[in-house]
Amino acid sequence: MAGLLEGHLAAVTGGGSGIGQGICQAYAREGAQVVILDANVEGANETVRLVTAAGGKASAMKLDVTDRAACRAAAAEIGKTGKVSILVNNAGINRRTPITGDAAAVAKDWDDIISVNLAGMFNVTHAFLDQLRATKGRIVNLGSIQSFVHVSWPNSAAYTTSKHGVLGFTRALAAELGKDGVRVNAIGPGLIETAINADARAKNPDMVAAVMRHTPLNRPGKPADIAGPAVFLASDMSAYVTGGIIMADGGFRSI
Ligand SMILES: NC(=O)c1ccc[n+]([C@@H]2O[C@H](COP(=O)([O-])OP(=O)(O)OC[C@H]3O[C@@H](n4cnc5c(N)ncnc54)[C@H](O)[C@@H]3O)[C@@H](O)[C@H]2O)c1
Repeated sequence: MAGLLEGHLAAVTGGGSGIGQGICQAYAREGAQVVILDANVEGANETVRLVTAAGGKASAMKLDVTDRAACRAAAAEIGKTGKVSILVNNAGINRRTPITGDAAAVAKDWDDIISVNLAGMFNVTHAFLDQLRATKGRIVNLGSIQSFVHVSWPNSAAYTTSKHGVLGFTRALAAELGKDGVRVNAIGPGLIETAINADARAKNPDMVAAVMRHTPLNRPGKPADIAGPAVFLASDMSAYVTGGIIMADGGFRSI
């Protein structure tokens, strides 16, 4: 049986770890050719190894999404051999610094988080826009519970701001690109066990317990829990879905 993403070329930022790696594996299983764009080239190469070992097609390219010129160069390079029809804006960072903390640290965290999570998403999307319009492509952005609320994870004003911005960007682009047949959606993961929160989970078991008390499914998520919604939003199964966000949060936001 043909996969849901047969014939697609998918670019996944931050595909060298965690949620992005899970999405790359699922996309390849569904027949897409995957290009992993990650600042961490070792991680990206490991994803290529996992995908090809399972019989899929993947390649890796080192890219810092905060470097706008490099994003344009990567899109041009990929465009020589194919057109990206699925873009997943997944690269992200998080740091939890109280806004009342050390002024220099707060300002640096603000700059870094907004640069990667928000400006990086713009840089990559803009670089691939022509290819996505030419293919009537699909964009999937990684939002969060913090695209709506700021609870249970204190000291993350910059991250919450960036993830609210992800949702705003998703809606604005859906409105603007619908006429070109490009669909733009987001996924809102809950607490997913990956490197981004490994330190926070280890140091703050009470915070994890508080999140779980508010999570009807009563367990943290795995990258595979996000891969399903990501396949759906990239495939023709979601042909009439745009400007939306699928919460994959164990029910956190529903109660
Ligand atoms: N894990 C969670 O609980 C959770 C919850 C909600 C949203 N998210 C979002 O999901 C996305 C993936 O997070 P994850 O949990 O897999 O984290 P992760 O740390 O495992 O993976 C993030 C990846 O992004 C890459 N990256 C970071 N900065 C980059 C840059 N400047 N340029 C290119 N690549 C860069 C890293 O190298 C890494 O491979 C992020 O946008 C994150 O905010 C995660």
